[in-house]
Amino acid sequence: MTRLATLAAVADVLLDDATSPSLLHDTLEQYRDLLLTASGLDLGDDSSLKPFDTGRGIAIGATWAALCIDDELRTQRFIAGLHAAVNEAIAAGSTTPVHVVYAGTGPFATLALPLMTRFPAEQLQFTFLEINAVSLAAVERLIDALGIGAYVRDVVLTDASTYQLPDRTVDILLSETMQFSLVDEMQVPITLNLLRQLPATTVLIPERITLRLGRLAETEGEPLVEDLGELLVIDRHTLRSYVRNTKSSDFPTVTLPLPPAGGLFAIRTGIQIFGGYRLEDYESGLTNPEIIGRFPDEEGTPETVEFTYQMEPCPYLRMLFRQNGAATPSEIGSEQKQEQYTGQHNGPFAE
Ligand SMILES: C[S@@+](CC[C@H](N)C(=O)[O-])C[C@H]1O[C@@H](n2cnc3c(N)ncnc32)[C@H](O)[C@@H]1O
Repeated sequence: MTRLATLAAVADVLLDDATSPSLLHDTLEQYRDLLLTASGLDLGDDSSLKPFDTGRGIAIGATWAALCIDDELRTQRFIAGLHAAVNEAIAAGSTTPVHVVYAGTGPFATLALPLMTRFPAEQLQFTFLEINAVSLAAVERLIDALGIGAYVRDVVLTDASTYQLPDRTVDILLSETMQFSLVDEMQVPITLNLLRQLPATTVLIPERITLRLGRLAETEGEPLVEDLGELLVIDRHTLRSYVRNTKSSDFPTVTLPLPPAGGLFAIRTGIQIFGGYRLEDYESGLTNPEIIGRFPDEEGTPETVEFTYQMEPCPYLRMLFRQNGAATPSEIGSEQKQEQYTGQHNGPFAE
């Protein structure tokens, strides 16, 4: 079988919503082997392992970006969601090729390649943006090795959170540059920068990322017991209406009450990729609930918690627990997670 025939067989499985977990697992192993061989990426090399500190957020090393493929439902649903969005753009009567800007390709452009076996290059074109030179070089080798250059308009080594797009006829903006709780990595600054340069009709993938406060059961698997409200929504509407205030780039603070009886509290990350394709609690490393407190503690249960999402100096979630007039600050992001960038991405292969 040629490499492109293998890629087409991989696409068949990934785009079939009825694919079983074991077939998905085996197929993604086959897809990973194909990408590794064709890109020549050395997963163990120091330059591949090193994270890239952009100064405004972290870009994970090429090895860890490559291994995101192993976050199986994530990979399948993003590819299926992108496929549905391309089909929708074509059905809407686009006479020119559907143009997808893919920000943060990693070394494999994992979410894009299977679609190249589904549409001719006259119908589908990509622009690839990547900040890490090791990943970018691997993507370029992959394009050559698979002979898919006709699908790729440009491959740009850049920080997508500041990049100015020379061509603004973009149908779909795709980026998966996030951790759960949207901290540290640059999903929000990247989509904020790029989406605001594009027409109102450009589809954003994922369409919506929502952070919600939840109370979890103390039983195995810590399932949700009670939803306590929304603290951040990142979608086309909130990104377009975002206004940077003169003092900071923070998103507006949201205050949520905690139930007086207390419990185990967590931030839940929900991802609506496109249409019916979504990722909910625990389905992906990106949607693992982040525990923020167990109450009552020695001081009791806070009455409220205030959440402020900040983008500068790096993506970060500040919290303020208020109780009897006293305020206790806390946060998610940065140093707390530093070891994940030097060791691993928070996909299913993380501990
Ligand atoms: C989580 S990985 C995902 C890789 C691949 N898109 C996938 O879904 O499997 C994110 C990628 O985005 C890149 N990245 C992070 N911040 C970036 C930025 N500001 N500009 C361009 N690329 C960025 C990282 O270097 C990394 O390769």
